[in-house]
Amino acid sequence: MINTYGNKDDFPIFNKRVNGKRIIYLDSTATTQKPRQVLDAIIGYYEGSNANVHRSVYKLADEATEVYERSRKNIGDFIGSRENEIVFTRNTTESLNLLSYTVGESLKKGDRILITSMEHHSNILPWMRLEERGVILDYVGLDEMGHLDLEDLKSKLKRETRIVSVAHQSNVLGTINPIEEIGKIAKDNGSIFIVDAAQSVPHMPFRIREEYDFVAFSGHKMLGPMGIGVLYGKYNLLEEMPPFNRGGEMIKDVDFHNAIFEDPPIKFEAGTPNVEGAVGLSAAVDYLKNIGMEEVRRHERYLTSITLKSLDGMKNVKYYGPRDPDERGGVIAFNVKDTTNLKKDLEGRNIKVDRLYHSHDIATFLDDRNVYVRSGHHCAEPLMRTLNITGTARASFYVYNGDDDVEAFISSLSEI
Ligand SMILES: Cc1ncc(COP(=O)(O)O)c(C=O)c1O
Repeated sequence: MINTYGNKDDFPIFNKRVNGKRIIYLDSTATTQKPRQVLDAIIGYYEGSNANVHRSVYKLADEATEVYERSRKNIGDFIGSRENEIVFTRNTTESLNLLSYTVGESLKKGDRILITSMEHHSNILPWMRLEERGVILDYVGLDEMGHLDLEDLKSKLKRETRIVSVAHQSNVLGTINPIEEIGKIAKDNGSIFIVDAAQSVPHMPFRIREEYDFVAFSGHKMLGPMGIGVLYGKYNLLEEMPPFNRGGEMIKDVDFHNAIFEDPPIKFEAGTPNVEGAVGLSAAVDYLKNIGMEEVRRHERYLTSITLKSLDGMKNVKYYGPRDPDERGGVIAFNVKDTTNLKKDLEGRNIKVDRLYHSHDIATFLDDRNVYVRSGHHCAEPLMRTLNITGTARASFYVYNGDDDVEAFISSLSEI
């Protein structure tokens, strides 16, 4: 159970004071803070088990390998995957690039990839790369409330659509997409289905399903350290794919001109891996399991619903995405109208001109009150173009946020 003030006691950063006051951290969509348990696990690894993995026969190296592989199993269990289907990467971005440079390499001129207008750049640019060789990139449109238009999805799904890749939860609109249904539609079409789960695995119960061929997420967005990410892949697909990077430890045998590669997942982990990252992410998974992902979702839904209710009462604030907290996660992108903006008309009279404050100005105003929100395009410029805006401010929640943070945010915002 998370109390209504959030689990701040476990997070040393909340002891920090800026200008003598506590910080109100509302940017967990960008990255999350780390609990003492994760920091201790990383220090514990270096103090007790550190050696390079998968290569030496002495006891300490064995122990390091065991700790690394145990972490892989724990993280796999968390999403209902076998451990040999979990590839460690640096982050979601690298997981999706890995797919572009392996699965994507088999695409030919005229093949199609279907993504959506609400994707993060890391689920756009790796696919855009393939347009240079004549692959066609299609985008599913949105309705006015920021839901995916499933009719548009069906109409854009062609025989040539080889890959469908969709964010489970938008990092801007908060929309939770029906990925089970989309996955089924994609699989019925014979397409490879990829889930960008960067904003869902950290925030809600998530289990691998038959329809999901690949799933990408980042450790740092779920209480783990930076520099560790995950690519889940169906084993038979991982087996067929060529390696992404080549080098140490990903081979069975090498002569002067040929190599036989290791089995997955090691085939995709060339060089010394981020063992401390795996250990830290595994500790983060334990922390989240201890709370329970249903509870994480319940808490974020609660914070979202009280925040939206307050924003509904603020006439100069416009927020984006679904109104119903059941349809969205704990991320709220918003703009503030400058109602004082006057301009002279031709007769020299003052008229009000509707204008939005720049999102950086909103974030700076809130920063002066120790309320930390993100601003800008959130690495989703095609979505900004769809919404016909240049950016938004964005508040997002996690397990350590509570009523106190929402109150501080709303009262600071109402001073604008
Ligand atoms: C939906 C989504 N996908 C991908 C990413 C990229 O994550 P990372 O920077 O950890 O690679 C983000 C980051 O905000 C995201 O929100």
